[in-house]
Amino acid sequence: MYYSDDLVEEIRSRNDIVDVVSSYVKLTKKGSTYFGLCPFHNEKSPSFSVTPAKQMYYCFGCGQGGNAFTFVMKYENMNFPEAVKFLADKAGVDLPEQEYSAEEKKKADLKSQLLEIHKESALYFHKQLKSEKGARAYEYLKGRGLTDETIRSFGLGYSTNYSDDLYRFIKSKGYTDDVLKESGLFTFSEKGVYDKFNNRVMFPIMDINNRVIGFGGRVMGDGKPKYLNSPETSLFDKSRNLYGMNVARSSRKDGILICEGYMDVISLHQAGFNNAVASLGTAHTPRQANLIKRYAEDVYITFDSDGAGVMAALRAIPMLKSSGLNVKVIDMRPHKDPDEFIKALGADEYQKRIDNARNYLLFQLDKFRENLDMSKPEEATKFMNECVSKLVEIEDELERMVYIDTVSSEYNIPKDSLLKAVSRKALTYEPKNYKYEKSEDEQKYKSDGKKQPKDDGVRAAQKTLITWLIDEPELYGKVKRFITKKDFIEEPFNVVADMLFEQLESGNLNPASIINHFNSEEEQSEVASLFNTGLLEGISLQEKEKTLNDTVITVKKNSVDYRNRTVTDLTELQNIMKEQTEISKIHISL
Ligand code: UTP
Ligand code: MN
Repeated sequence: MYYSDDLVEEIRSRNDIVDVVSSYVKLTKKGSTYFGLCPFHNEKSPSFSVTPAKQMYYCFGCGQGGNAFTFVMKYENMNFPEAVKFLADKAGVDLPEQEYSAEEKKKADLKSQLLEIHKESALYFHKQLKSEKGARAYEYLKGRGLTDETIRSFGLGYSTNYSDDLYRFIKSKGYTDDVLKESGLFTFSEKGVYDKFNNRVMFPIMDINNRVIGFGGRVMGDGKPKYLNSPETSLFDKSRNLYGMNVARSSRKDGILICEGYMDVISLHQAGFNNAVASLGTAHTPRQANLIKRYAEDVYITFDSDGAGVMAALRAIPMLKSSGLNVKVIDMRPHKDPDEFIKALGADEYQKRIDNARNYLLFQLDKFRENLDMSKPEEATKFMNECVSKLVEIEDELERMVYIDTVSSEYNIPKDSLLKAVSRKALTYEPKNYKYEKSEDEQKYKSDGKKQPKDDGVRAAQKTLITWLIDEPELYGKVKRFITKKDFIEEPFNVVADMLFEQLESGNLNPASIINHFNSEEEQSEVASLFNTGLLEGISLQEKEKTLNDTVITVKKNSVDYRNRTVTDLTELQNIMKEQTEISKIHISL
């Protein structure tokens, strides 16, 4: 869906940024700016700012920023058209039925077609399960203790034995091969087109808005691979979604249960724990942790009891912690996973395990100690050092004191010596920031192959000048004799300057409308940072004048040099040479 700039701008201007953000984040006013705890990273003191005058938000902690659309896109996991619709509804603006540009139409069309294809496929698989062909699959699921109600509510299905059953069905609905190739549901080869899933029990994977975006398929019995999953597609981003979250997000239970498998989620939901989710056959990601944090404060890890499950839990803990979640670990021994536990002992026993879940820190220390022989002094020392290292990592002082108490009593370590060791270590401690690496697929889809340019002097100057003009539009009158929008060469400053100079010229400065023109999160944050550096605070007039002149000269010189390198026309070259000599004469007085 494509909407005109005017319409987008109208919707944005009818949604005050403070109202929009306040419905998710508690804001406190300080002067002309509002502050709150950043919803996009974990923090204890507010560095997330919302400026009504600019209609923008910006986090000084993590550098995320943007306007009302950006905020809703990030927070609600929506794409741009979805955010437009969301805010239009909120402000009571009627959207036209269709308003497309050719390219936008193609993109939006592809996504909506892929969604349709997935929905049709899920319905088809479900129908097969209920048919004669699906009898064995149906028996399989019943044999695993699932009720008809559960099978229906999770939309479980069956992919038949015919190698192109789904393909023929979907083709008959009129989709083209070009689109079907993008769906990840088929294999295109020289010999023909085959369904990716054959003779498997099918688990549709839904996003938080209940839209089918991919599938997991399980063999009935012992074949390999046990589960086959849809590949990542433009629809299906594994790092951003969790199986079962569409239901868990509105569960009335406290916290989220995070488990390893599809069947674990389903069994838990059937047993009344509809707050269970699982990652999608991949390691858990910080994005998933942030997704959980939107809906819950507490998360309970309920991974398999085997060694791999413990390893996975140890890996997931720092990530979940860094999203600000309270993390606990459920012990299901002697059973393997939640599915088997529930079958063997039932929901009440499982609830007891939730109530007795081990605090994450003690879990980490327990596991560390299991490999040590505590009767040997050097190994006991090693354990003590591990306790100290873990305690030092706790940033909040009160919380750390509480944990020092707990660790001391759990493991019989004298509190005084623990306290001393922690204080000593804290002197040299440097906090690790949890960084996540993008998956290859993510890079493929999000970065368009563009390299992030370095913030060198020239970029910095262009950035400074733009920021300056936004903060003090009255400077424009003095600067415009020397600088035009064409002097901004680097992306995204060239685009920003284009719009900004027009706004300054007409006297209608409106920074938030500029953000509308950037699509990627990276660009939006970078552009938002232009509006929030506060670089004019507390410097003297003299310093300011010098900085302004230096900045203007750097921008101008870079621009003239650039044109000098690329010029092909003689008169133009003469102009450039004249401009070069004039650069040294630039002087702006404030
Ligand atoms: P498990 O092997 O623990 O299976 O994989 P499970 O969930 O207990 O499955 P059942 O009970 O035997 O049916 C946990 C999760 O890892 C992913 C799936 O998401 C699975 O639910 N997985 C596992 C795969 O993606 N592929 C595989 O081959 C195996
Ligand atoms: Mn299992």
